[in-house]
Amino acid sequence: NKSFTVSSFLKSKKNNERISMLTAYDYSTAKLLDEAGVDSLLVGDSLGMVMLGYESTLQVTIEDMIHHCKAVSRGAKRAMVIGDMPFLSYHISVEESIKNAGRLIKEGNVHAVKLEGGRDVIDKIRGIVKAQIPVMGHLGLTPQSVNIFGGFKVQGKNEEQAKRIIEDALFLQEAGVFAIVLECVPEKLSKIITEKLDIPTIGIGAGKYCDGQVLVTQDMLGMYTDFTPKFVKKYADTGVTIKEAVKRYIEEIKLGKFPTKEHSFSIKEEILQKLY
Ligand code: KIV
Ligand code: NA
Repeated sequence: NKSFTVSSFLKSKKNNERISMLTAYDYSTAKLLDEAGVDSLLVGDSLGMVMLGYESTLQVTIEDMIHHCKAVSRGAKRAMVIGDMPFLSYHISVEESIKNAGRLIKEGNVHAVKLEGGRDVIDKIRGIVKAQIPVMGHLGLTPQSVNIFGGFKVQGKNEEQAKRIIEDALFLQEAGVFAIVLECVPEKLSKIITEKLDIPTIGIGAGKYCDGQVLVTQDMLGMYTDFTPKFVKKYADTGVTIKEAVKRYIEEIKLGKFPTKEHSFSIKEEILQKLY
């Protein structure tokens, strides 16, 4: 099975083949998703909430990201692994942005980085791309801007906002990103953007017209229930499955039903005699 790469992203759009993407934060989950055939794995800074229990993504550090990127990249054979640049790792200067993107590549072993924003971060994107690091863009509801937005709200519902997002998408393409995540924007707005761009759009809460889709794995598997956005479809109730299994485990311990011979090790009788 051939690896999914940056050129696969572009080829998929050209051939009208939809791109599948999920988040992953650890080795064993990454391996499962890769074996299931997902095209790309995103080590999202959503790990701050989903894996670390933070209130938002703002507290996530570059060290946190590297730690999880390493684990995911070991588990992925075919899927292209993309690492999120965390808040403030690409805002201060072009140099610092390149250095941090480079750390995700060199230490985290990912294939590409993703960062949030449009015109405000164009110089950083150009710098990172010049350093030969593929960059994925992210527009619409960019969670690192939650304090500016004043909450998690759909973006681009009015004309001014919608025009700004379209312009930003074109700016990003111009700056050399290989794809753009569109988060929480009206379906028909992402349709316009998808038609205007040569690079693929990956939607999350952005409707059916995007060139690909991404979801947070723990959301779609029903494992993370602190908050479930409208755009999440639950493909499994893993949370329930886990709880039921753990309840049975506890019960069998209490009743002395686990472990049995099947899960235990033996010793020769003549050796045993000498031990009493
Ligand atoms: O951090 C994340 O999981 C993301 C996706 C939701 C696109 O950025
Ligand atoms: Na993210």
